[in-house]
Order: sequence, then C-alpha cells, then structure tokens
Amino acid sequence: MLRRNAGRSARHTGLRLGFMCLVAVIAFTASSAHSGAKKAPAFIDAVDPSGVLRTVAVDGSGLDLQGPFFQSLGTNGRSCGTCHVASTGWSLSPSEVRERFKKTNGLDPLFRVVDGANSPHSNVSTLAARRNAYSMLLSRGVIRVGIPIPPNAEFELAAVDDPYHYASASELSLFRRPLPSTNLRFLTTVMWDGRESYGPLGTTAIASDATPEQNADALLSDLTHQARDATLGHAQGTSISDSLAEALARFEINLATAQQNDRFAGNLDSHGALGGPDNLADEPFYVTINDVLGADMMGRPFESSSMTLFDKWQKSHNPHQAAIARGAAIFSAMRIKITGVAGLNDDLGQTTIIGSCTSCHDAPNVGNHSVGLPIDIGVTDESRRTPDMPLYTLRNLSTGDIRRTTDPGRALLTGKWKDIGKFKGPILRGLAARAPYFHDGSAETLDDVVDFYDTRFNIGLTEQEKDDLVAFLSAL
Ligand code: HEC
Ligand code: HEC
Repeated sequence: MLRRNAGRSARHTGLRLGFMCLVAVIAFTASSAHSGAKKAPAFIDAVDPSGVLRTVAVDGSGLDLQGPFFQSLGTNGRSCGTCHVASTGWSLSPSEVRERFKKTNGLDPLFRVVDGANSPHSNVSTLAARRNAYSMLLSRGVIRVGIPIPPNAEFELAAVDDPYHYASASELSLFRRPLPSTNLRFLTTVMWDGRESYGPLGTTAIASDATPEQNADALLSDLTHQARDATLGHAQGTSISDSLAEALARFEINLATAQQNDRFAGNLDSHGALGGPDNLADEPFYVTINDVLGADMMGRPFESSSMTLFDKWQKSHNPHQAAIARGAAIFSAMRIKITGVAGLNDDLGQTTIIGSCTSCHDAPNVGNHSVGLPIDIGVTDESRRTPDMPLYTLRNLSTGDIRRTTDPGRALLTGKWKDIGKFKGPILRGLAARAPYFHDGSAETLDDVVDFYDTRFNIGLTEQEKDDLVAFLSAL
C-alpha cells in the first residue's frame, strides 16, 4: 500500500529548478496566509500559438515549481521537467528544443545520447555532430524508446531499415513524443503502449470492474512505478525511494492543464463556456465513464455529444466562439465509417462501425478512452513511413505473414501479432501548446491531424468543417 501523504514533504528539499521556458511563462502567486515558505503560484500561464495555456493545481493548493519534478534525480542532469515542459503542455515542442540547442550548443541535459539521440552510439563530439545526432529530437520533439522483441513473441524481426544503424531485435528504436505529465487523473492507460499500467487485472486497462477508489490507488501505484523507471532510464539514475517516486506521481496527478484563452474567441470560460483548467479540475470522471461499448459502470448509455464545454456558444454572435461550438458538434455528430482498426473492427467482428470522433475519444470533456483500449488507427503503417523513421519488417512465426511498421506499439509488450501498431488514444486537452501530434509527432499541426482522419476514413470534410474542428481542438 502506498503512503498517502508522502507527496507533501517534497516541498522543502529546495534543490535546483529544472529547465522551463520561463520567458513565456507568467506565474501568479496565490495569496497565502502562511509565512516563511516560498509561495506556490496558483497557476502558470504560457503563451502558445492559439492563445494562453494555463495549469492549475486540482486541489487548489498552488503549484510547487521547486519540487522534485524539477530537480535532477539521476546522473545526467535531467529532471522530469527537462522533457515535460509546462509552457508546452508538459510535453516537448520542437521549436523550444531547437532554442535550447542553440542556447547551449546542444549541451543542455535534454541532449543525452541514451535516448535523446537517434542512436546511443551517435558521435556528439562537435556542434555539427550533435546537430546530426539529435536530428529527430530537433525536428519532431521525439525521444528514442528502446524495447526488445519479447521472448515468446508470435513474430520475429525479419528485417530492419534503421537510418541510424542501431536498431535490432534486442532493442528496437521507437521514436515517441513525451506524453503530457498533466491531467493524469483521467488516465486509463499509462504510456502510449500501456507498459506502465499494471491494473488490478494485470491488463492494459485500469480495471473496469474495480471501484473508483481502487482505480485511483492503481493509477497512483502505476505512476509511482513510472516515475521510478523514468529516473532509471531517462535520468540514468539509481533507484529512488518509494516516497520520492510517490511525491512525483502525486504532483502530476494534481495538475490540470487546458487552454484558458483563445486569441480570437477570448476567455474560454466566458459567456457560459466551460473551457479552461479550473473547469477541467472539476470535471467528473471514473474509469468506464461514457464507454462507447456500454460498459459504463454507472449503467449510463453512451452519449456521443460528450464534449459539452462550448455548448453555450452555439448561439454566440462572436464568429470565433460560434466556430468552436460548431467544431465540437462536428466532433460528436459527424459520422465516420471506422474500418480496419485493429482492436475495434476485428474484436467486435464488424467490418464497418459507424461512429464519430467520440467513439474513440469518449471521456467527456477530456477525450481519451475511458477504458484502456489499445487500437491501431494506422499511424505506423509502411505507407506513412518517412525516410527519417526506422521501418521494421515483422514475420508471423506460424503463418509466415509479413507486416512492416515504424513502431510495433503494444505488440512489443504482449508479443501478440494482433497488437502490432496499437496505441492508446491520448487526452485531448491543452493540445494547442504541444504540437506535433500522434505518438511519433507525424502530424505537425492540428490541421494535419484532421487531414489524417479525413483521408484515413474517407470522411469528405469540407474546408469549413476542417476549420471548425481545428478551432475546437485548439480551444481545448
Ligand atoms: C528524456 C525525456 C523524458 C524525461 C527526462 C522524462 N520523461 Fe516522461 N515521458 C517521456 C516520453 C518519451 C514518454 C512517452 C513514452 C512512451 O509512451 O513510450 C513519457 C511519458 C510519461 C508519462 C506517461 C503519461 C501518459 O499519458 O501515459 C508520465 C506520467 C511521465 N512521462 C512522467 C515523467 C516523470 C515523473 C519523469 C521524471 C522522473 C519523466 N517523465 C521524465 C519523456 C521523458
Ligand atoms: C478509431 C478510433 C479513433 C477515431 C475515430 C478518432 N481517433 Fe483520434 N486518436 C485515436 C488514437 C488511437 C490516437 C493515438 C494514435 C497514435 O498516436 O498513434 C488518436 C490521436 C488523436 C489526436 C492526437 C493527440 C496527441 O496528443 O497527439 C487528436 C488531436 C485526435 N486523435 C483527434 C481526433 C478527431 C478530431 C477525430 C475525429 C475526426 C478523431 N480523433 C477520431 C483514436 C481515434
């Protein structure tokens, strides 16, 4: 059992503040009756391409920006905040990464060969060599995750085409975006492939038949485990104590991040709208909420119109507010013929499922899957491979079938052929600050995301519908 209050003790350790893009961050201090201790800001604002991103503490206690999350806990100078940058949605932005490279000649702790470089064997002895070695990080903001083909896998690695000459069956190079370390109380799966989800059932899902309290405990325990692994891996450290790992997990779970202001539509919680992180902090959630397949533990039927935060703007005279509300309606109501999605079509035995964006992004006003549901929407397909990405040829050991993919995803954990290319649907809040999108950063902008869906599922969106969807996604 994890100790409940360990997180509180972290505040006074007073180590170094990790890198943050403070130029763009305006932190406001909560008026506090306490004296002596440094005051924790009540919120952090950061300017992003569509307006202002805001982070608040869910419990209203303020944000401890001196805590362990921002301290170097390993041996290579990195903190969690090296890769989870508040001003860029607690992820990494390639333009901010390039700025950091320029300022430090590529020597900031972010630039470490272990997982920042295209290959751990990269030459980083000169500035030009470093620019080359860290090209994936500089262009896409991706980190190299190394995972082997598991023993007893149903498939073997028949061929590797790695532009960086490193990957092999004992360690595939998987270039992945840092997931935001915020809004974590809504998580049903930890990591893109669910590898830090241990759930009571030992599956990817945080158990769908457990009580909300059991699920909250499971999430805290998964995130504690994740924090320990992140210190060992990314920070090349030794094991950290349980209480420190739990403090990191509690800090993250207590963060709520969303767009607060849209440069055209104004404050996203004005005129009855329910955008912004304060509303998000109050958003009800339990594992299975609004489950698309009817597994909602409260027995409520699936509601496709689950992004309700801008409903009050449907009749707004401000054209930008109206566009955001129209985009929300498209997200919920636009019919999509979902085909060829492993984890959905095959498991349900339906060649075509008539759904919407909400079918997969079903958690109300949050947008991830409300149960652990790894699926393959085709992002890793050979047809979408760009020359900077490795391509893996996998052969099914019993059928001889071949699949080529840039990232086998969940299959590297389960060893199952049918899990190739499966990833979780991520939380869709605070999107504007954290381009590029998808696990591999292959969609540079939200327009690219919408274009992906338009072509992948042959939707036939009009330019107006695309613009409205992007206006909505940018306001989340
Ligand atoms: C070198 C960059 C880097 C550092 C440093 C780093 N992370 Fe991450 N983090 C990532 C990447 C990349 C992922 C996604 C990897 C994947 O899913 O395969 C990730 C994923 C996560 C997630 C999963 C979120 C979700 O939605 O599932 C959490 C939580 C997290 N990191 C917390 C931390 C903590 C806590 C620390 C410090 C102990 C830390 N990270 C340090 C790069 C980093
Ligand atoms: C069949 C299920 C499914 C449908 C339908 C679907 N999504 Fe997704 N969505 C996913 C999955 C899975 C991912 C993660 C894929 C990856 O990174 O490989 C994702 C990722 C995203 C992302 C990127 C988030 C990030 O942090 O990178 C956005 C934005 C998004 N979806 C918006 C939409 C919109 C808008 C629609 C409707 C046009 C939609 N989705 C329809 C399953 C779906």
